[in-house]
Parts: sequence; structure tokens; C-alpha cells
Amino acid sequence: MGTCRTSNNDCRGLSRSDPALLKGDGITHSAGSPHVDQIYHLASPASPPNYMYNPIKTLKTNTIGTLNMLGLAKRVSARLLLASTSEVYGDPEVHPQNEGYWGHVNPIGPRACYDEGKRAAETMCYAYMKQEGVEVRVARIFNTFGPRMHMNDGRVVSNFILQALQGEPLTVYGSGSQTRAFQYVSDLVNGLVALMNSNVSSPVNLGNPEEHTILEFAQLIKNLVGSRSEIQFLSEAQDDPQKRKPDIRKAKLMLGWEPVVPLEEGLNKAIHYFRKELEYQANNQYIPKPKPARIKKGRTRHN
Ligand SMILES: NC(=O)c1ccc[n+]([C@@H]2O[C@H](COP(=O)([O-])OP(=O)(O)OC[C@H]3O[C@@H](n4cnc5c(N)ncnc54)[C@H](O)[C@@H]3O)[C@@H](O)[C@H]2O)c1
Repeated sequence: MGTCRTSNNDCRGLSRSDPALLKGDGITHSAGSPHVDQIYHLASPASPPNYMYNPIKTLKTNTIGTLNMLGLAKRVSARLLLASTSEVYGDPEVHPQNEGYWGHVNPIGPRACYDEGKRAAETMCYAYMKQEGVEVRVARIFNTFGPRMHMNDGRVVSNFILQALQGEPLTVYGSGSQTRAFQYVSDLVNGLVALMNSNVSSPVNLGNPEEHTILEFAQLIKNLVGSRSEIQFLSEAQDDPQKRKPDIRKAKLMLGWEPVVPLEEGLNKAIHYFRKELEYQANNQYIPKPKPARIKKGRTRHN
């Protein structure tokens, strides 16, 4: 189960008969007993405005949805890969973040529905592995971007590209000194497949360790787009992690995996896609605006 985002909802490369593409809602769906060897469990709101919009559904998807998928994996003797997240490390006190770090998460903050939901999902995976013998793989995914992202899903890369293309101010929350490390989507997909087909059952970080400040990202994207947009500083987001960078030594050693797509090359591909999508939307009289990161009073954040 996972994502499919295009202007015409075309799930290119996937078909409804694909055994791993289950229809319906992960919380309520009962999938019967199809022939399935591997389950990629990607279903979850992932962008902060989306997961904060309905925190209860985010929690249900990551808890009840994950239980349903683990139950299915047990029933059909399939291996399950959970798309976990670097957010399990919270606002980290360890830098870069390695898999042995237990994290620093505010359990009642605005991001908790996602962070704690994914932490609980990981716990469930290992409970099913121990108690029921289900084979699990847990990928801790760091910020990922690429073509076919939602135009206005509110993540920092898509926000900056959209703002730069539309000549609007690039909105930076706080001073912009907080860091992130972005990986290109094809690197992540290769990592997920390598992990699924490996014998590594413990969590593995998948991300690109090239770290930049948010302000550097804003300037880079502005330059790549060739935009005259200004950079606008807004109030700091609550619980926004100040540093984020994966330690990927485990993935290199145990999967023989590391990211290969340079940041600028990946950004240019994403910018090209967004430009085309804007043209498409303009022809259909619909121009999306970047969704603000601030969802409820006083709640802002970066991805
Ligand atoms: N993209 C990233 O930077 C990143 C980083 C860390 C983890 N992840 C994880 O990877 C997975 C995919 O992320 P993405 O970036 O493609 O996000 P996305 O928002 O593009 O896709 C998430 C998909 O989950 C589906 N979904 C949400 N709730 C569901 C439910 N209850 N039942 C069935 N489907 C449901 C959505 O419809 C969507 O297709 C998510 O689990 C996310 O938490 C992504």
C-alpha cells in the first residue's frame, strides 16, 4: 500500500491486480487471503499538514492499519516492510542519527500523532516477529523528494519549488538554521527493495547524509528555478527538529546501498515536474497554492 500522486491520479507502474496494491482504507479494509509474498506497508499521511489535520486518523492508520497489515502478513506468510521514519528520533540529541538511538520525541506535541504512531508501528512489527514469527523489515526513511509529489502537500521541498516557480516568497520557519538531508526518490526505492530482499530484520536508516540548512535549501532552489522570489522568515515551528542527518553505515554495510543521485540533479528533475504540472493546472484553470505549514493556532513546522 502506498502513494499515487499525479495530476490525473494515474498510478503508473502499478495495477489494481498487483498483489501488494490493496484497495480501500488500511484501517478498515479486510483483504481476504490473496497470494502475497511481500507487503510494502507505506500507507500513512506523511506530510505534516496532512498528518496534523486529522491526528486521530493518523494514529489509527499507523496503529490499527499496521496491525491489519501484520495480521495479513501472518495469515498469508508474507514478509512485511514498514515505512517508518526519521521522525522516530524526534528532535535528536545525537547527530547524525544512528539506528541505536532511541529518540527524543514529545509524546503530546503536534507531531506526536505521526512520530508516536510510527514508533508504535515499529513496536508492533517486533511483537509480531517475536510472538508470531512474522518476517519484518523496518526502513527509517529520511526526508525524500522527487517528481509526482503532491504539488501542495506542505513539505518544505515542494513548498519552496512551488513558491519559486510562482514568484512568491519562499517561507522559512524560524531562522532557517535548522538542518535537513534530502534524498531523491529513486534512491529510496532502491533502498526499500534491497532491505525487503535482505535478511536484516532490525531497523535500517535510508536517507542521504548530505546535510544543509533550510536557508541553504531555499537559496539553492531559488537559484535552480531562476526565481526572483524573496525569502520570508516566519515564526518558528513547534517541536521542529533542529538537526536531521542519517547515519547510513548500517545500510552501506548490510545492504550494499547508498544514495547515488546528487542533490541538484534530483532537484532539477523535481522542478521540471512541478513546472509541467503548473502548466497542466493552468490549462485546467486550477493553480495550487503551497499549503501553509501552520495548521492550527501556533502550530508550524518543517518537514
Ligand atoms: N516522503 C518522505 O520524506 C517520508 C519520510 C519518512 C517516512 N515516509 C513514509 O513513507 C510512506 C510513504 O510516504 P509518501 O511520502 O509517499 O507519502 P504520501 O502522502 O505521498 O503517500 C502516503 C499514502 O498513504 C495513503 N494512506 C494514508 N492513510 C491511509 C489509510 N488509512 N489507508 C490506506 N492508505 C492510506 C495515502 O492515500 C497516500 O497514498 C509513509 O508511510 C510515510 O510515513 C515518507
